[in-house]
Amino acid sequence: MTVYLNGQFMPIEEARIPVLDRGFIFGDGVYEVIPVYSRFAFRLAEHLKRLQFSLDGIRLTNPHSDQEWTKLITDLIERNTAEDQYLYLHITRGVAKRDHAFPNPSVQPTIFVMSNPLLTPPPALLISGVGAVSAPDNRWLRCDIKAISLLPNVLLRQMAIDAGCAETILIRDDDFMTEGAASNIFLVKNGILLAPPKDNLMLPGITYDVLLEIAAAHNIPHEVRKIAKDELFNADELLLTSSTKEVLAITTLDNKPVGDGKPGVMFAKLHKHYQDYKRDVMRNT
Ligand code: PDD
Repeated sequence: MTVYLNGQFMPIEEARIPVLDRGFIFGDGVYEVIPVYSRFAFRLAEHLKRLQFSLDGIRLTNPHSDQEWTKLITDLIERNTAEDQYLYLHITRGVAKRDHAFPNPSVQPTIFVMSNPLLTPPPALLISGVGAVSAPDNRWLRCDIKAISLLPNVLLRQMAIDAGCAETILIRDDDFMTEGAASNIFLVKNGILLAPPKDNLMLPGITYDVLLEIAAAHNIPHEVRKIAKDELFNADELLLTSSTKEVLAITTLDNKPVGDGKPGVMFAKLHKHYQDYKRDVMRNT
């Protein structure tokens, strides 16, 4: 597996960073995850825009223009063998003596990009759906920044795994749903697809955008609005989206069935349209 680190391509085993990297010491950096279909980086412009937003959010200058990123990413895709990949981009504030304040003068950021084969959910999971648990959203107030400091998300996701589930759905202020530990969450009630509005309390998912675009294109009734905790527990269907999981049905929440406990009609429709879109648009752009 070939990766990119600070200007060079190399086998992953040879990639090394100094222990004083601020990513290692403080989790001081941001990242992106970009799916690649048929060797084509999906929605690259949107991912690079979100990367810029994250970098602005942590006051780190973007080390590359969009053109440079595109070249780097295209090179890395070529150097790896899988047709479908997912790219992981990681930028930290660089290597400096340990001090919480930014290095002054500033230092070179650390830039790391790797590619892994993209393994989308197997058919069995599409048929059964996945389980979820709920938990208070105890993260900071800038969840719109795709920060590498993911300790809350790690602990929250592990809660789901410990319960034999796939995801933890987060509830802010004991009041409303935000998202999953590493995914966006949609709700279906009375045939309407509901999505929480993008704000500082959730990551603006690229797949979230795709799902809403698909809903609009196929005249599927949908609303973007705050989703109350009670609505979450009384949903007809729940769906999760992310770049690596695409769209999945959540069929249990806190050990109770969601709706009739099976992936519902909205999931079936959206999943089909998503796969059609992937085949017709993503693989042929
Ligand atoms: N995570 N919300 C959170 C907290 C996430 O970590 C992710 C994705 C999403 C979905 O965003 P997108 O559709 O752009 O992938 C929402 C990635 C996959 C990860 O951390 O591996």
